[in-house]
Amino acid sequence: MALIELNKVKKTYDLGEVQVHALRETNLHIDKGEYVALLGPSGSGKSTLMNTLGCLDRPTSGSYQLDGVEVASMSRNARARIRNEHIGFVFQNFNLLNRTSAEENVELPLLYGSSLTGRARRRRAREMLELVGLGERLDHHPGQLSGGQQQRVAIARSLVNDPSILMGDEPTGNLDSKTSKEVISLFKRLNEENGITVILVTHDLSVARHARRILVLRDGRIETDTESYDEAFKSLHAFEAE
Ligand SMILES: Nc1ncnc2c1ncn2[C@@H]1O[C@H](COP(=O)(O)OP(=O)(O)O)[C@@H](O)[C@H]1O
Ligand SMILES: [Mg+2]
Repeated sequence: MALIELNKVKKTYDLGEVQVHALRETNLHIDKGEYVALLGPSGSGKSTLMNTLGCLDRPTSGSYQLDGVEVASMSRNARARIRNEHIGFVFQNFNLLNRTSAEENVELPLLYGSSLTGRARRRRAREMLELVGLGERLDHHPGQLSGGQQQRVAIARSLVNDPSILMGDEPTGNLDSKTSKEVISLFKRLNEENGITVILVTHDLSVARHARRILVLRDGRIETDTESYDEAFKSLHAFEAE
């Protein structure tokens, strides 16, 4: 059984006069332990697919089984529960609380629905910050950290509930190429050493290069699904040449 299984999933936005086919009929399997990059031009449906996979959005039709459980028809609350259990999310702009220490930021998801004591929560937050190489920065506020360090705090926060999947929508979009590399190598390490399934949206080809599978989207469809970086690169540039 695949960890992620989409069957005939569609997402259509009905704007009255026009219908936007953000995701056309899509079938997709992703196994546990994969490292997948979603590439494609702006507006091709990357975020729509990611938000669907991340249970943030519900498809208009079709089936989405996450770890054998049908989530496409679930209520918002039920989806939130599934998300907390399975999925860690990181965003382009980090989404950290600014007046709060790194440790408290990481601890935050544990305040909802976790049975841990305050002490156990802090220990867990510290472990996660150590895992991302920020064990020395527990008391720093986001403003006292570099962009790359802030994204690593966000990654630590996304891992605190022990998710099996880590997802990011343009997680290096606000980072320079050097800090971007730090963050990419962290995703790679979490995938290879900790067995976490990684799914990233990116338009940075150096990010996609590290993935073991690349999906190229175009006009709401998965146009190319490949393990070859060169093939993905060609597919992406075929669009740009038009
Ligand atoms: N909430 C929305 N309402 C209407 N159209 C939307 C909405 N969100 C996305 N779209 C449209 O769906 C298409 C895919 O968008 P998106 O998934 O954000 O693409 P990408 O992330 O690849 O840039 C685009 O045409 C976009 O304008
Ligand atoms: Mg997007």
